[in-house]
Amino acid sequence: MENLINSIREEALTYLQHVKTIEELEVVRIKFLGRNGELTNLLKTLGCCSIEERKIIGAECNKLKSYITERIAELKSELSKGGVSNKFDITLPGMEFEEGAYHPITIVQRELEEIFKAMGFMIEDTPEVETDYYNFEALNIPPYHPARDMQDTYWLENGMVLRTQTSAGQQHIMEKSSPPIKAIIPGRCFRNEELDASHDNTFFQLEGIVIDEGISVANLIYTMEVMLSAIFEKNVTVRLRPGYFPFVEPGFELDIRCEICEGKGCSTCKQSGWVELLPCGMIHPNVLKYGNIDSEKYTGFAFGLGLSRLAMMKYKIPDIRAFNSGNLKILKQFQ
Ligand code: FA5
Repeated sequence: MENLINSIREEALTYLQHVKTIEELEVVRIKFLGRNGELTNLLKTLGCCSIEERKIIGAECNKLKSYITERIAELKSELSKGGVSNKFDITLPGMEFEEGAYHPITIVQRELEEIFKAMGFMIEDTPEVETDYYNFEALNIPPYHPARDMQDTYWLENGMVLRTQTSAGQQHIMEKSSPPIKAIIPGRCFRNEELDASHDNTFFQLEGIVIDEGISVANLIYTMEVMLSAIFEKNVTVRLRPGYFPFVEPGFELDIRCEICEGKGCSTCKQSGWVELLPCGMIHPNVLKYGNIDSEKYTGFAFGLGLSRLAMMKYKIPDIRAFNSGNLKILKQFQ
């Protein structure tokens, strides 16, 4: 019985919320309070209840009846004055509110997307929850490979992973397109890291792949140079050194001179004066084979830009933890 009263209450409230005319209001009145209305019929059945039940349920029904009756009266008076909207004076000035701002990573990501679009790249979005195949195996990292230990991975109970790198998107692109391919994949990555000024467990990368006939390291370096000078709007000092990733050969680490301390050494760059920003290399033939791309005919390069770290360098934010902190004092400064 109690359930029935509650469901009549919910139903009546919904009807009353949507009423727009006096005629509609009358229909609602008859539906609930009319001679055969839902509430009236419920009250009629009280005769079969015990005296105790009749007291409790009867009181609840009467409370609801009074509420609906009052609400109908209020609505009737509002509607007869010309409608509910008359309550608002549309000539009053609007209420002031503080304007929001984009998150610094969103700003940098959008700028980069424009830079890459101008160079003919497609922008792709691939899953954050991945299979082992895309995150590791198709990147030439089979289950026994020690390179898996380089990334502290969050494994889900169903065997999937929170992607540790946007490189997981490479095969998705190769599966759906054929060379020439030029694409970037910006997105969130997850690693169970020890947190410090330059490591978070949730951070952004921006992957890039280019696959065509005759692509070489020269194309890779040139593209990286164009991108970095466009995003920093100035010349930045970088260094290139060998780097190991099973999915590229040869592989490089492209570091940027720390923009926070200008190379002198600080907690952001771990006193080294350099920040690891942009690992890259020539796509390994095995990865092309996984993507059904003829590795005799085509070559390609890939890079995995640390987007969060790039935003830190661009805006001189010394600690990566500011990005996910929700601290609006910091986050709303960037436009
Ligand atoms: C990779 O993730 C490779 N997938 C990059 C790659 C792509 C290499 C294509 C070759 C070809 P690495 O683990 O170094 O590599 O991460 C790449 C960048 O992401 C780092 O240079 C850094 O800028 C950023 N990064 C990595 N871990 C973190 C973290 N915990 N917090 C913030 N940024 C991170």
